[in-house]
Amino acid sequence: MWNWTTGKSPIIHRIHVAHRKFCVSGVVVLSTFGLASELMCRYLTQRAGVDIWWTGSRLNELPSVLPKVGTPIKAQAIVPYRYYFNTVTFSYTTAFWSWDKWESQLDWLALRGVNLPLAWVGYEFILIETFREVGLTDADIASFLSGPAFQAWNRFGNIQGSWGGDLPMAWVTDQFALQKQIVARMAALGMTPVLPSFTGFVPRALSALYPNASIVTGSSWSGFPTTLTGVSFLEPFDPLFTTMQKSFITKQRAAYGADLSHIYTLDQYNENDPFSGDLTYLHNVTEGTFASLRAADPDAVWLLQGWLFFSSLSFWTNERIEAYLGGVPGNDSMIILDLYSEAQPQWNRTSSYFGKQWVWCELHDYGGNMGFEGNLQQLTTGPLAALTSPGSSMKGIGVTMEGQEGNELVYDIMLDQAWSPTPLDTTKYVDAWVARRYQRVSVPPPARDAWRTLASTVYNNQDPNTQATIKSILELSPALTGLTNRTGHHPTAIPYNTNTSILPALRSLLGAKAQDAHLTTVPEFAYDVVDVARQLLSNRFIDHYNTLITTYNTPNTTTQAVSDAGSPLLSILADLDALLGTNENFLLSTWISDARQWAHGSQDASYVRYLEYNARDQITLWGPDGEINDYASKAWAGLVGTYYLPRWEAFVEYLGETKKSGVPYNATLVSQRMLDIGSQWAKETWGENKGETWGVEGNTWEVVNRVLQRWA
Ligand SMILES: *[C@@H]1O[C@H](CO)[C@@H](O)[C@H](O)[C@H]1NC(C)=O
Ligand SMILES: *[C@@H]1O[C@H](CO)[C@@H](O)[C@H](O)[C@H]1NC(C)=O
Ligand SMILES: *[C@@H]1O[C@H](CO)[C@@H](O)[C@H](O)[C@H]1NC(C)=O
Ligand SMILES: *[C@@H]1O[C@H](CO)[C@@H](O)[C@H](O)[C@H]1NC(C)=O
Ligand SMILES: *[C@@H]1O[C@H](CO)[C@@H](O)[C@H](O)[C@H]1NC(C)=O
Ligand SMILES: *[C@@H]1O[C@H](CO)[C@@H](O)[C@H](O)[C@H]1NC(C)=O
Ligand SMILES: *[C@@H]1O[C@H](CO)[C@@H](O)[C@H](O)[C@H]1NC(C)=O
Ligand SMILES: *[C@@H]1O[C@H](CO)[C@@H](O)[C@H](O)[C@H]1NC(C)=O
Repeated sequence: MWNWTTGKSPIIHRIHVAHRKFCVSGVVVLSTFGLASELMCRYLTQRAGVDIWWTGSRLNELPSVLPKVGTPIKAQAIVPYRYYFNTVTFSYTTAFWSWDKWESQLDWLALRGVNLPLAWVGYEFILIETFREVGLTDADIASFLSGPAFQAWNRFGNIQGSWGGDLPMAWVTDQFALQKQIVARMAALGMTPVLPSFTGFVPRALSALYPNASIVTGSSWSGFPTTLTGVSFLEPFDPLFTTMQKSFITKQRAAYGADLSHIYTLDQYNENDPFSGDLTYLHNVTEGTFASLRAADPDAVWLLQGWLFFSSLSFWTNERIEAYLGGVPGNDSMIILDLYSEAQPQWNRTSSYFGKQWVWCELHDYGGNMGFEGNLQQLTTGPLAALTSPGSSMKGIGVTMEGQEGNELVYDIMLDQAWSPTPLDTTKYVDAWVARRYQRVSVPPPARDAWRTLASTVYNNQDPNTQATIKSILELSPALTGLTNRTGHHPTAIPYNTNTSILPALRSLLGAKAQDAHLTTVPEFAYDVVDVARQLLSNRFIDHYNTLITTYNTPNTTTQAVSDAGSPLLSILADLDALLGTNENFLLSTWISDARQWAHGSQDASYVRYLEYNARDQITLWGPDGEINDYASKAWAGLVGTYYLPRWEAFVEYLGETKKSGVPYNATLVSQRMLDIGSQWAKETWGENKGETWGVEGNTWEVVNRVLQRWA
């Protein structure tokens, strides 16, 4: 059905085919800010009922006789920019993606009308050339660059260097080749990629080469050892900064095309505080930075990821923000991403960023965690309220998730809201979404009910204390205190009642399957069932954890009682691992094989091991010694079974031992034992231990029934 040999995106190709028939029908295609293809995309999703999902493209379900258009479709974006990605998404989610995954992702973005995607892949190739040109040696440069799974934070100037070995040049050249494909496809789809630039973060050796250059030491970050943080920063008013900016951008324009894009991502103070809070200094920094961009590209526009104004709230007073933004002339020469608009907007305390263009962004998912959460109410009303507020300089709607892992509904509704001048009706939206997702003309009512239940509970989270993906405590390092009821942007508190949301939703989905057995062949349906059952187990784990802790804290409790109370936790983890293992979208082995593929089957075992170590370390210890332990945890088969389960086994065993010996609980000791397990785990090789397989195993429906019997 598809001509894959043309090298064309399926979307472009398909839309091209559909377009002719569409025009014959006499309907005028209107698109104001949008991609040329946007209207056709509306046709595909709204009339033909097909879509692309993170689980795969279903455009091949498009009937050969296209459905009549009926009422003409008109769509017009309400904002000129529809933005996508966070700098860290390039590490948390796409770090190891190959072209086929990128191609599907870009099609997905195109169908949703995104026109301003971030494009960080392969940055280091041109950066290295720029560094060499100013006289830095390869050894100097190697001590600066971070590993494949950690490049985002090196780009942000939070960390430098790599642990477990230097970044191989093969990685850098491969990524650069991938970036050429990515940006070319973005352009072909009518998008403007947001490109990297020179930020000022440099190898330490630059100070010795240029003793008179103004180079300061950046903040130390997240408890990393001094060798890996405190990154050298060449101040933007130094003439060398402009020299390096021109060098970088000139090479980049030569590589991708001079007019591919004039929008540059550039962050110097993401979780790094400026060297001084002096207003003249802050103004001077942005003035110098912007002048360097314009010296390299006279049409340059600076895109700033505005996380700093929330994360360093006490530093970034309004007058400092005003001075900082004021260094950039005019209001159109900058685009600020208001990064966490759904919960912690900053535009409203900064007079709409003092007139600069800004984008209302949903952040939602920290560290690529996988718990359910969403606030559909806020996502559909918040952007419109901001857009129409007096003096608003809002120019876009975007999604800046740290990781793209689950909760697909909230990303869809967010991007669709960018095309609706009134708040989308969430009930109608969800009903239509389910029908399209399950590719049924007539969706069995229980499937619709399942999603209505979820939409009115987990996706109707208006609790101000838990506005972010909910983290499962089973993914955290076991401890006696501090795991449950966390609030903020890494919440573990569950802001809904599992018994009246997750549980009935799961039962309804299975009820739908009973009515329409064909649903089991729909990958999105199978995914959703596993995902809802996953959440049931995660939440039940909390109840059993609380029982264990209560038992442990009861005076004169026996070792046996502790062990009995611990056993359901271990059973849940075993069942969760089995459940996730039945679906290809929930496998640790995919993350690992995606990483290892970059060695191209090379016999260089050290490169393969380095890639796997990077992949494993990011989702567990996050740093050589657990500096940001469990931040990027995942509910993946393999990770649950070979890592979380052994940790909880060790914990339950330890609790029993202390009851037997009468030695008091030692939190330091527990945390050290857990880190030891992590250090060992991160260095392992998947497939070398018994039972470690690469594909799916078991039958989803059998495992889900077992889960319901045991844990409902
Ligand atoms: C640094 O500045 C000093 C004093 O102005 C000057 O003598 C020296 O030549 C400069 N060094 C370099 C490498 O430019
Ligand atoms: C910025 O600061 C530097 C160093 O203090 C100074 O040399 C330069 O003149 C300042 N530039 C502006 C535009 O204020
Ligand atoms: C901005 O909006 C948020 C969310 O509605 C609110 O919590 C905050 O108080 C507002 N800030 C100001 C200065 O109005
Ligand atoms: C930028 O926007 C602010 C706030 O609306 C306005 O006061 C200022 O004049 C604008 N600047 C320019 C150069 O248009
Ligand atoms: C959880 O925290 C909230 C406030 O943050 C508090 O009201 C509630 O009592 C806590 N619940 C438990 C079970 O500790
Ligand atoms: C939910 O259901 C479980 C199992 O029936 C029960 O133990 C628990 O108390 C219920 N929780 C709530 C909050 O209703
Ligand atoms: C715990 O055991 C001690 C000594 O065996 C005994 O004196 C005490 O009454 C017991 N406490 C409880 C709550 O059973
Ligand atoms: C707790 O364990 C740590 C690490 O093993 C040890 O250094 C410390 O002395 C222990 N504390 C107590 C009170 O036993």
